[in-house]
Amino acid sequence: MQDRLQALKEEALLKIEQASDLKALQDVKVSYLGKKGPITEVLKGMGKLSPEERPVVGAYANEVRDAITSALESKVAELEQAVIEEKLKKESIDVTLPGRPVRQGNAHPLTAVIEEIEDLFLTMGFTVAEGPEVETDYYNFEALNLPKDHPARDMQDSFFITEDILLRTQTSPVQARTMEKHHGRGPVKIISPGKVYRRDDDDATHSHQFMQIEGLVVEENVRLSDLKGVLETFAKKMFGEDRKIRLRPSFFPFTEPSVEMDISCFKCGGKGCSICKHTGWIEILGAGMVHPNVLEMAGFDSKKYTGFAFGMGPERIAMLKYGIDDIRHFYTNDLRFLKQFKKA
Ligand code: PHE
Repeated sequence: MQDRLQALKEEALLKIEQASDLKALQDVKVSYLGKKGPITEVLKGMGKLSPEERPVVGAYANEVRDAITSALESKVAELEQAVIEEKLKKESIDVTLPGRPVRQGNAHPLTAVIEEIEDLFLTMGFTVAEGPEVETDYYNFEALNLPKDHPARDMQDSFFITEDILLRTQTSPVQARTMEKHHGRGPVKIISPGKVYRRDDDDATHSHQFMQIEGLVVEENVRLSDLKGVLETFAKKMFGEDRKIRLRPSFFPFTEPSVEMDISCFKCGGKGCSICKHTGWIEILGAGMVHPNVLEMAGFDSKKYTGFAFGMGPERIAMLKYGIDDIRHFYTNDLRFLKQFKKA
């Protein structure tokens, strides 16, 4: 009987040794140690043994079982380890490979200029307001003192959608919309950036779609000198501390008086060059004192309140600042152009 057990043990250990996967080990376990396995079978015959032999054979049978069990366990551990090692090998990362740099974009030059202007006005206590690009005739023209037959409408060829709805030709409608929201009570102090549209043939200096930034201040005792102070601060911050400004009389239906602001040329300092067309001055924006009619139409008492407004084109400002010679560069998304505005 002992010989039989000895033979089974050797047989089992050999199979365990040769097993190449966990499934084969499981089979060995079932066939040798299971209830119907040969060892159990041998033990069933113990009854036939003499009382002296029985404990000896019993002890040996246990020894065989233990030997097979521990051989199985260590082989299982060995195979599992091999599986892990195989996986690690396959998934290993070569840390000596050069890294792939993360490509970083940059703000569009127009966005950058608009944000710079916004930040500047925010420091002066303005807030940013927005209005719709699809606008009514009322806000785009009428509320700005431009009734239906007003000749100044011709200055702004428009895209009409219906007779009363158009793509706004300027950001000035946000003036009227903002004032209405204030229900006749100051102070109003906003800037409003956004897209505007005019029926224009596109060329180096014209675009049927472009940006404007509107500014509006309404409060008691607001004067032209306040406008001048704000514009001068803006000009110095955007174009250099030694800039001078000058205001020239102009006309806008919604401001009275109306002015055009020029800055002293930042290229030649006023001597005259190609940038300032040899005048020493560069035209930057339109502005003026809010027309009493505009205040009244938006619900403000023009005897109590006065205000100033201005409107500028960020494209023009960016073109001057960065020496860009064609407005179309802003819209064609040529990466060779856009990448030049990456901040170091
Ligand atoms: N909306 C005017 C334009 O587009 C600019 C402007 C705004 C002038 C505010 C005066 C005051 O030409």
